[in-house]
Amino acid sequence: MTQPAARPPAAITPVIYDGATVQDVANADCDWDHFDSASYFEHNYSTAREADIRIARIIARHFAETARLYPTGGRAIDVGAGANLYPALAMLPFAEDVHLSERAESNRLWLDAQIEQPAPSWTDFWRVISSGREPYQRVANFQQSLRRRAHVQAGDVFKLPTGVYNLGTMFFVAESITTMNKEFRRAINAFVGSLKVKAPFAAAFMKDSSGYRVGGRDYPACPVDESDIRRSFAEIAHDVKLDTIEDTEVRSGYAGMIVVTGRAGKKK
Ligand SMILES: C[S@@+](CC[C@H](N)C(=O)[O-])C[C@H]1O[C@@H](n2cnc3c(N)ncnc32)[C@H](O)[C@@H]1O
Repeated sequence: MTQPAARPPAAITPVIYDGATVQDVANADCDWDHFDSASYFEHNYSTAREADIRIARIIARHFAETARLYPTGGRAIDVGAGANLYPALAMLPFAEDVHLSERAESNRLWLDAQIEQPAPSWTDFWRVISSGREPYQRVANFQQSLRRRAHVQAGDVFKLPTGVYNLGTMFFVAESITTMNKEFRRAINAFVGSLKVKAPFAAAFMKDSSGYRVGGRDYPACPVDESDIRRSFAEIAHDVKLDTIEDTEVRSGYAGMIVVTGRAGKKK
């Protein structure tokens, strides 16, 4: 999730000409390596807020339910993990190896440190995720399990391998790394394409975001809504379900968050 844009991005202000944006910001245009992980975490995840609690419950229920339909174990991936551990926590019981794939060096260092010593809010997220769900309750100690199973890797969503992961998550990445709709769609295709057919996944998106600031730096976003997202998954996934989560607590500059759960590949 993202911080509200206090003002239009400075270095990347879109040029509006006749009502159309003529200057796009591509993923490759941004300085991801200096993404301020501590500031992002502090703003978004240092306490478990209501909107994230609702999202965490949705994805934990999805993974717990689909575990009955799909072989567990093997590899999972969280694409663009950033300074967020709860998608990885939701996959923990279902994979031997959880790849936290990140383009930003700052975030990779932050993730390594958090795996060693998770901040207290992750315990709150774990309670939400595990409460009343048997597969999670079999995990005796989530911190230990995280240390054993989670591996931080340098990764680029546009260069993911095809058909290798047993489950996956991608939170606030496709629409929050570019202003370009074609890159947004490519990121979703690459994420779902990295999963094995029928693998369960969860993804989250900011709705109608116009960009965001993290620690004094501006980052681009591609404004998308439910119909853009539904269309993006239509041909590449099945059992797709969307939930829109209002977020009235501290965020502004966008219209809520959209959570997608589903399974990879078209239904035969
Ligand atoms: C808005 S943050 C979302 C972070 C986190 N997943 C969350 O749920 O809050 C976007 C993340 O995408 C990462 N990112 C940017 N470009 C990427 C790329 N090409 N491949 C993978 N991750 C990328 C950024 O470093 C950042 O961590």
